[in-house]
Amino acid sequence: MIILGIETSCDETAAAVVRGVGNKVEVLSGVVASQIEIHKKYGGVVPEVAARAHVLNILPVVNEALKGVKKINAIAVTVGPGLVTSLLVGVETAKTLAYAWHVPTVAINHIEGHIYANWLRPIRNDKGQMTNVKNKIKFPAIILTVSGGHTMLVLMKGHGKYKVLGETRDDAAGEAFDKAAQLLHLGYPGGPEIAAAAAKLRSRNIIPPTPLYQGGITLPRPMLNDKNFDFSFSGLKTALLYGIQKNKNWKKKIPEYAYEFQQAVAEVLVHKTIKAAKLYGVKNIMLSGGVAANVELRNQLKKAVENKLSGVKLIIPEFKYCTDNAAMVAAAGYFHAKRKNYTAWRKLKTDANLELR
Ligand code: KG4
Ligand code: ZN
Repeated sequence: MIILGIETSCDETAAAVVRGVGNKVEVLSGVVASQIEIHKKYGGVVPEVAARAHVLNILPVVNEALKGVKKINAIAVTVGPGLVTSLLVGVETAKTLAYAWHVPTVAINHIEGHIYANWLRPIRNDKGQMTNVKNKIKFPAIILTVSGGHTMLVLMKGHGKYKVLGETRDDAAGEAFDKAAQLLHLGYPGGPEIAAAAAKLRSRNIIPPTPLYQGGITLPRPMLNDKNFDFSFSGLKTALLYGIQKNKNWKKKIPEYAYEFQQAVAEVLVHKTIKAAKLYGVKNIMLSGGVAANVELRNQLKKAVENKLSGVKLIIPEFKYCTDNAAMVAAAGYFHAKRKNYTAWRKLKTDANLELR
């Protein structure tokens, strides 16, 4: 089954084509037009500007993704959550194509899209033959989704069966990285900037091989020991603000602050993910969303799974499928289409606050 995926929920205009076979998904094409350069000067995404850029980009992006593709069996499109005017561009495009081509449509929740990035793994051997299911994902699974807009721990009992265990009560993990980067006078988006600043300590060779190193700077680990699976990152950002306000020489310690901030976020995320995995006796843990591109988080989670959980497999998407893309949306669409879970194009509706159910 060949699926066209369309994603315009935030600041990336994306289209991709995947082929689904059994439990595997193969990416045939993927195009992402990023608006990072446009929004950089504002230090964040400006919704009206984003929507206008989507309007300009969507048809060339879809056209590029469709090059060499002869037939589409269904169109999967992100309908929410996200910026409503941005979502509308993708949804109206999907409706128009479905009407013109007489193909069914699938409504995808953006978080579900991020989750399905974990199904996008190389599935051909050197000779180009489909390999045997090395990438079989077993349920129940726990997925930690960490992006610019969301921080969520989800228990997945099967395809399309989600239970949200916990969420952020204020800022999302990616949003926290973005705000911390702003406080430290680093660029946008903040996640990669904080990670790069923190890595400078390593290149200066001043990190002792202990995760407890704080360079004299300490930040809180919010809600680390709370019984629930919720998160909170706005206090961490405020603690960073107070920290640098009290330190006249903070500009000389930017790598130390960035390191400690990244460490605080990663520790809380890893701790709660492991706790949930133990409680629900899961077989797989998956990571997804833009912050899943953070190398420190990936490494800490790998170590924790190895040391604290036996027989549990950790799956992490390739870097390019962590941040917003349409291949993940098409992959989610494939598993819906397999269950014939279509939404008629006339009934496709954007929902900025769509919940994962
Ligand atoms: O998933 P995504 O592309 O968009 C949303 O759905 O929000 O995530 C974007 C977020 C931004 O906040 C960005 O700072 C963060 O992901 N991010 C990172 C890294 N790369 C992107 N955060 C930490 N470390 C990274 N390497
Ligand atoms: Zn996203």
